[in-house]
Amino acid sequence: MVKIAVFASGQGSNFQALADAAAAGRLGGASVELLVCDKPEAPVIKRAEAAGIDTFVFRPKEYASREAYEAEIAAELEKRGIELIALAGYMRLITSVLVKPYEGRMLNIHPSLLPAFPGKDAIGQALDYGVKCTGITVHLVDGGMDTGAVVAQLPIAIEAEDTRESLEARIHAAETKLYPEVVAVFAEKRVSVEGRKVSIAGR
Ligand code: GAR
Repeated sequence: MVKIAVFASGQGSNFQALADAAAAGRLGGASVELLVCDKPEAPVIKRAEAAGIDTFVFRPKEYASREAYEAEIAAELEKRGIELIALAGYMRLITSVLVKPYEGRMLNIHPSLLPAFPGKDAIGQALDYGVKCTGITVHLVDGGMDTGAVVAQLPIAIEAEDTRESLEARIHAAETKLYPEVVAVFAEKRVSVEGRKVSIAGR
């Protein structure tokens, strides 16, 4: 069974979707072993506790550098035999301390059609820009900000009457459906990566 760690900083709707899919046997036979969270007050922690999933919670300010806390996380992941990382609203850049050992095995979900609107508040950026279509992207994580190879994308139309809340609700609904599907194909080892081209067997 492939052991997965989910990294999150906030509400945790994507964490919940992954945990639920694993519990229902819809995550390619993978199990969610650990939540890694950089915010001790984040609601996602309660979700993990309710689901009986272990947590590794830390305060970045208590470390000398990004590399220092990532080294602790890497040791924890290794101890638990984690094979795959799913970033799910984890609002921090990742350094080579984690990127290197998990190259090709670390995913992120982002609420835009990358490369449009990387970084923070992608939904607000899309609304401010006035685009008529945005979407969601699942991509591999490299050293950059939302720059890794694209694994899956779904477009979402922006309607004239959309508010931030209504658009965010549609984006979250799409994310919580797509992310478990993508994590499942990774867990089933149906993915091959050549440079920026990612292909999924049977799709
Ligand atoms: C999600 O919309 C995710 O795509 C976004 O944060 C939200 C977390 O929601 N991630 C990023 O913006 C990463 N750059 P959640 O905590 O309810 O899953």
